[in-house]
Amino acid sequence: MFERMKLGIQDRTKGLDETIGLELLKPTKIYARAILNLVKNFNIKGLIHITGGGFLDNVPRILPERCRAVIQRGSWPVLPVFKVLQAGGDIEEMEMFRVFNMGIGLMIIVTERECPEIMERLVALGEEAYLIGAVDKRDPAKRLYASCEPMKRIVKLGVLVSGSGSNLQSIINHIEKGLLDAEIRMIISNNPRLCPGEGKKTRHSLHRPGAPGFVTREDFDRKMIEVFNISGVELVIMAGFMRILSPLFLNAFPMKIMNIHPAVLPSFPGMHAQKQAFDYGVKFSGCTVHFADEGVDTGPIIIQAIVPVYDQDTDEILAQRILKEEHRIYPKAIQLYAEGKLYVVGRKVLVKDHKQVDPHPLHNPPSSVFRCTKRKSRDDDPCSC
Ligand code: GAR
Repeated sequence: MFERMKLGIQDRTKGLDETIGLELLKPTKIYARAILNLVKNFNIKGLIHITGGGFLDNVPRILPERCRAVIQRGSWPVLPVFKVLQAGGDIEEMEMFRVFNMGIGLMIIVTERECPEIMERLVALGEEAYLIGAVDKRDPAKRLYASCEPMKRIVKLGVLVSGSGSNLQSIINHIEKGLLDAEIRMIISNNPRLCPGEGKKTRHSLHRPGAPGFVTREDFDRKMIEVFNISGVELVIMAGFMRILSPLFLNAFPMKIMNIHPAVLPSFPGMHAQKQAFDYGVKFSGCTVHFADEGVDTGPIIIQAIVPVYDQDTDEILAQRILKEEHRIYPKAIQLYAEGKLYVVGRKVLVKDHKQVDPHPLHNPPSSVFRCTKRKSRDDDPCSC
């Protein structure tokens, strides 16, 4: 490698702070002091130095037959020297994990319960510690004992609700089915009578009904910013939140607030959108997920879904049809965000790798009210004119 890169151990190269020699020493450390402390105080299940053979050869050495370890690539900052080696040797990423430790000198397997405390202890002892994966059951049919998988980004949500919470429930269902890489950190309802999610089967039981007594909109929003920040919220989801957000709140989460509206925006913004559309006599309506801005339902549009309006509908029937689509497109929009696929360019939201599903435009839904009933004879079908 040195020959190929024309470098010696005393040399410096782009991307490294020290000479190559010193950088090569960084992945190796003596952990005795920290380990003695942990072994005395915690239930340590396994310890393994990651040496030559990287993760794939070393980790299985301490695993029981029935277990496998899933290491999440991207869950720790890889030391720069490995990036230099990878580029210089033109080495595939997986090969790097198969050969090198990538900066993880020692792996400790602990119980999920003790994990946070152990992490804190390691930091207090002056060590750098990362949660890099999990041990779970191994499929006996497969020989796979360890794998290094790209880390899934789990986006931390703060959800705002005022109504019945069916969109919230749909988001929870998608998370629990593993279809949405998100976790709900905080739910705020400004409707003290309704506490969505309560009584429903969910792990995400962090409910904070909006407390009355905030004098101004800014007071209320300041409190929301505070609790969202404390909970580590990255993306705010307005799921039927019937309150206008102040500039204070919008600026605290720029292009990080999504809203769902039960109409095809920019038509029928504001309250009772389904009824507005129904009364107007549209042939199609639908719903829109968009980023919130300072206007009412005016921000850049992420996803829209269209539903037909039939002659025999009522506005309630239409609202139910739209709601069904809301439950589909909101989790989709959040997943696109979690995957880092949304780019806001001016008013437009571009979706990376978007596959067009249906290039055909929609035309009027069939009409059942105005139908010609002329028949040539009693047995004929009604005329199709
Ligand atoms: C949904 O239809 C949502 O689109 C709408 O409130 C309903 C909440 O239902 N939001 C707005 O009209 C915002 N302008 P849910 O509480 O059952 O999710």
